[in-house]
Amino acid sequence: MDGNGRWAERRGLPRSAGHRAGVEALRRVVEASPGLGIGTLSVYAFSADNWKRPEAEVGALMMLFKTYLRAEIVRLKRSGVRLTVFGRRDRLPEAVRQAITRAEWETRNGGRLHLRIAVDYAGRDAIRMAAMQWASDAANSSLPPSREELGRYVAAATHSPDTSPVDLLIRTGGEQRLSDFMLWESAYAELFFLEEFWPDISAHILATTVEAFRVRDRRFGGLSLRTGS
Ligand code: FPP
Repeated sequence: MDGNGRWAERRGLPRSAGHRAGVEALRRVVEASPGLGIGTLSVYAFSADNWKRPEAEVGALMMLFKTYLRAEIVRLKRSGVRLTVFGRRDRLPEAVRQAITRAEWETRNGGRLHLRIAVDYAGRDAIRMAAMQWASDAANSSLPPSREELGRYVAAATHSPDTSPVDLLIRTGGEQRLSDFMLWESAYAELFFLEEFWPDISAHILATTVEAFRVRDRRFGGLSLRTGS
């Protein structure tokens, strides 16, 4: 969800206003997703490297997460959305941790969409923690873990109940990089880099991107299912 800060700066607003507009964009995307055939939506809200930002911005973001998690429960439940948060929890303010636990519990039966929010997340840390845990669990094993097995460890390392691969990865805001997001899960993700800032993302832009994704020829290292070559 990149470009909140630039969206705000272009309007002469503080960066926090961009993040608040980012919440509105997230609502639009969550609402539009089930109708576009999206069953799982993972969003990058705060990376492990975002702690480097000024204290005021980090504080404003933590406040926004807490407010969103508390205020959104009713709407999410009504829309059949299950919310889970993945990443580290131990460095988050206690109030945010509590809001996460409550939102996850309250929305646990949502079956139309699984909304996954990455907070204090880094893909490389997930892989590193998975490797450490596997090495400790399998101290006497002479066999390396299978991809599936290590994938389960990667998910567990970030408190994630989901081990499924990413199909479509969208980055907004004009940058063309992954910034440590879901590196393991995105091995065969189709990448889309959009120029629009996150707060400008509409249901229409999402629909157009999903359409473009659907016509991509996904070969997973094999031959084309369409042409056989
Ligand atoms: C990156 O844009 C965005 C973030 C670090 C924060 C994302 C947060 C939201 C969209 C708020 C809503 C999230 C939840 C879960 C309530 P940037 O600030 O780096 O933008 P820039 O590259 O233009 O500076």
